[in-house]
Amino acid sequence: MLVLGIETSCDETSAAIVEDGGKILSNIVSSQIEIHKKFWGVVPEIASRKHIEMIIPVIQESLNKAKISLEDVDGIAVTFGPGLLGSLLVGLTVAKGIAYARRLPFIGINHLEAHLYACFIEHPHLIPPFIGLIISGGHTELIYISKERKYELLGSTRDDAVGEAFDKVARILGLEYPGGPAIEKIAKEGNPYSISLPLSHFKDKKTLDFSFSGIKTAVLYYVENLRKKGNTIPVEDLAASFQLTISEILIKRVIQAINLRGVNKVVIAGGVSSNQFLRSFFEKKKPKGIEIFFPPQGLCTDNAAMVGICGYYKFKEGKTSPLSLDANPSLKIG
Ligand code: KG4
Ligand code: ZN
Repeated sequence: MLVLGIETSCDETSAAIVEDGGKILSNIVSSQIEIHKKFWGVVPEIASRKHIEMIIPVIQESLNKAKISLEDVDGIAVTFGPGLLGSLLVGLTVAKGIAYARRLPFIGINHLEAHLYACFIEHPHLIPPFIGLIISGGHTELIYISKERKYELLGSTRDDAVGEAFDKVARILGLEYPGGPAIEKIAKEGNPYSISLPLSHFKDKKTLDFSFSGIKTAVLYYVENLRKKGNTIPVEDLAASFQLTISEILIKRVIQAINLRGVNKVVIAGGVSSNQFLRSFFEKKKPKGIEIFFPPQGLCTDNAAMVGICGYYKFKEGKTSPLSLDANPSLKIG
């Protein structure tokens, strides 16, 4: 079965052709990073306009690269939430149009679920129950996926998402946007144990929620203090210490969730999961007997292949969506 996946929830216009949920024939991602860079974040109006410009060429390129035509496609899967409304509408409307014109099965995909499905390409036999951790620019969700493939939200961020914290700290440190890759790169030159940054603390000791505003503010005060004194900023050490503290905050919650639900598998996905330091930190610090799964590097940040993979599994279960499906910017998981 050939599924055309379409993703336009934020600032990446992407289309992919996925064969039987396990082979990516093409995965075209047109990123708007260069456009949003100067604003240090995604400007919704600009994002949707750029999606309109790019969506058809990107779909065409995905077909060309896969060496197929629209007649060969067996189903269309498209992100319908969460994300920016104007951006979501572009992909969703085009997907509906093609599905209607070609009389093709059509399914709306939850972007968060798609991030988790990116792991199935290398691990098709990854069977629930497992804990899922989605860490991206817009989300920090800790989920329990039961045997029945039901999603239960165990915790989420009360302020910034992890990726957002990376982006904001990078700005404080005078690095580039997006902050995640910039921090990861410069942190290689620094000592992660040189500067002590605060872990998040909640009154409720059982909570599985996250908070990243404290660590971001701590970095800000640290930098401002040094600047006032005319001292140089140890950017490398700060980046490395920030990355380590974030990894510590995340693993603490994952271990709590593992113990709570008694599972031995964890899937970590989303843009931040491409961070190599975080990956090796989890591998080193995970409790005995726990297996951790990450998506392949190229499928961590937003892409349409993960949407196509997720769509394939839904189609296989006989699921489809009506063409009346609306975009849902605040769609939840669990
Ligand atoms: O999953 P994604 O592409 O978009 C959302 O769904 O939000 O994630 C983008 C986020 C950005 O905040 C970016 O800074 C972060 O993922 N990111 C990283 C890395 N690569 C991307 N964070 C840490 N380390 C990385 N290597
Ligand atoms: Zn995403």
